Amino acid sequence: MVKRNLETCFAPGLFNPEEHVNSIVVIIDILRASSAICTAFANGAVSILPVADAAEAMEYKSKGYLVAAERDGFVLDFADFGNSPFNFTRERVEGKTIVYSTTNGTGIINQASSAYLIVIGSFLNLTALTDWIIKMERDVLLFCAGWKNRFNLEDSVCAGAIAERMMETGLFTTICDSTLAAMDLWSHASNDLPAYIDKTAQRSRLRDKNLDDCIGFCLTIDFTNKIPIMKNGFLVDNIL
Ligand code: MLT
Repeated sequence: MVKRNLETCFAPGLFNPEEHVNSIVVIIDILRASSAICTAFANGAVSILPVADAAEAMEYKSKGYLVAAERDGFVLDFADFGNSPFNFTRERVEGKTIVYSTTNGTGIINQASSAYLIVIGSFLNLTALTDWIIKMERDVLLFCAGWKNRFNLEDSVCAGAIAERMMETGLFTTICDSTLAAMDLWSHASNDLPAYIDKTAQRSRLRDKNLDDCIGFCLTIDFTNKIPIMKNGFLVDNIL
């Protein structure tokens, strides 16, 4: 049996699109974009159009779209709401398409557009995501959004949780120190995940802006079985 290759990329500046055209790329930005996207689908959103550029998001707003957009945590003035998973309520998103633009998360979705398939990963959909990836006969890259091109702990820990489940199957191999480091971080953090995430830089950024109320929720393992994937430029709920 040929094992599939598992790799991890810790920050956007380390990503080389040409190496991953045949891979599934898992986008991880747990505080808060990938958690917000999973929540939107859990609450019945039909699709999400990720746009990296705020001006483009504003144009969609003027065409009547529902728009979620933030920069540095703050809701952009033209947007309907920002990036807390708690903003993506059933009342707001059920049956809707949402145009979505964030500081880091939507940028890396764009960067990975030449991949075989893009899928959104978080603690919220951990088991559904990993069970699905395991069934796919593809190499996998875990792509951490980081923060403004820098490494961050929270996405790396989540990558480690995903990687551990994949490696346990015996179906994957990894010759990637980033994957091994992510798994080490996860094994260190998993005893008390909230306490570990408490020391992250994004935790203090969000706290300084009074935007940290959703952090405990973003660490909820298996809140949903939704697997948001990219199809024709839109994120949709995967139905295999
Ligand atoms: C992002 O996509 O840049 C982040 O999730 C930002 C945030 O929500 O604070």
